Amino acid sequence: MKADLILYNIGTLVTAKEIEKSSIMTNMENIEIIDDAYLAVKDGKVLETGKQPVPEELKGENTVMTDAEYKVVTPGIVDSHTHLVFYGSRENELPLKIKGIPYLEILRNGGGILSTVRATRKATKEQLTEKALETLDRMLCFGVTTVESKSGYGLNLEEEIKQLEVNRELNKRHPIDIVSTFMGAHAVPEEYKEKPHEYIDEIIKMLPEIKKRNLAEFCDIFCEDEVFSVDESRKILNTAKKEGFKLKIHADEIVSLGGAELAGEVGAVSAEHLMAVSDKGIEELYKNKVIADILPATSFNLGKNYAPVRKMIDKGVDIAISSDYNPGSCPTENMQLVMQICSSQLKMTPAEIFKGVTLNGARALTLDEKTGSLEKGKNADFVVYDTDNINYIFYNFGINHVKDVYKNGKLVVKNKHKVY
Ligand code: NIG
Ligand code: FE
Repeated sequence: MKADLILYNIGTLVTAKEIEKSSIMTNMENIEIIDDAYLAVKDGKVLETGKQPVPEELKGENTVMTDAEYKVVTPGIVDSHTHLVFYGSRENELPLKIKGIPYLEILRNGGGILSTVRATRKATKEQLTEKALETLDRMLCFGVTTVESKSGYGLNLEEEIKQLEVNRELNKRHPIDIVSTFMGAHAVPEEYKEKPHEYIDEIIKMLPEIKKRNLAEFCDIFCEDEVFSVDESRKILNTAKKEGFKLKIHADEIVSLGGAELAGEVGAVSAEHLMAVSDKGIEELYKNKVIADILPATSFNLGKNYAPVRKMIDKGVDIAISSDYNPGSCPTENMQLVMQICSSQLKMTPAEIFKGVTLNGARALTLDEKTGSLEKGKNADFVVYDTDNINYIFYNFGINHVKDVYKNGKLVVKNKHKVY
């Protein structure tokens, strides 16, 4: 078959295809990395990858031949945990944070998530869409081609629907694929402060309404001290499962509550954050094949400890890495910074990090049949970096190394500027 596009002279091609583990690899390093490679694309899908020379039978009259000039190419980054759609910003909390006022105390006093809820409720769908489109453009320029987006700044049926409809609109209007998650259980809204149990009943009633409108694939919950207890989380997640949602949990972010154990019990696809996960929790993640989705830029920004990622890798847990982009604990769109934090602070190797932000990111969204690695038949979502080796991406930190981005085989970022 003739290719539509062939990228040749690729210095290092990280296909992220899972390969058999050699004795010197951890269970996160077993991805294919080919030096001196090519990548062929047909109809927006990967046709073939391999070591040069490019097979002659792939080249047709209309094949576009693109010289990658010995740069690094990887799958598009999958950011599998974000709070993308919101209005306003929270820099007013910065001095409080610097003075050491805890995140949960700011929330308790009506700030934090609740202040973003007030701003988001006041915004129109168009305002939310325009703001999120700008964010998505920044993410795209950092190499991101798939983003999960949680609601949770509406906290009543009408406002949650508004946020989720923005996700749908973004999916239509932006090249990045959006995976929508309902997170009505992000906080107890101010109007339920004195009767939080009634808000649990409200969420239970929202679930079938959201599903009926087909507005979200996943349901997530902030299982945390002073937010939703393990029992409350169990009740909501089990109902969500019955309604047909796949499950995610914000688990053991600040206090070790048992969120990871609950993720195993209810069959969640992923448990996210895990800064305070217990040994028992790690065991349950492994036994139940729950992806540990870690968000190290949140620890960095809050000045908190990191998830015990080396321990989790040693125990055989699959790790995904994402940004947690949100206006409070992690206002950054820069997935490369997140990856660099994984390298310098979490002591993860480049191969482990690339697996975490590509194949395992896709797994955390149950999208690994379609994206997350450059394998025949998967979406031709890939990134060309302005460097000839993968170590350099982690070594020269804090800058954007992404030069070009292709989504479904089409160039959407060229020389660091969007061209879609
Ligand atoms: O993942 N932990 C809960 N939710 C977000 C923060 C949201 C916010 O502060 O607005 C998080 O860190
Ligand atoms: Fe989050």
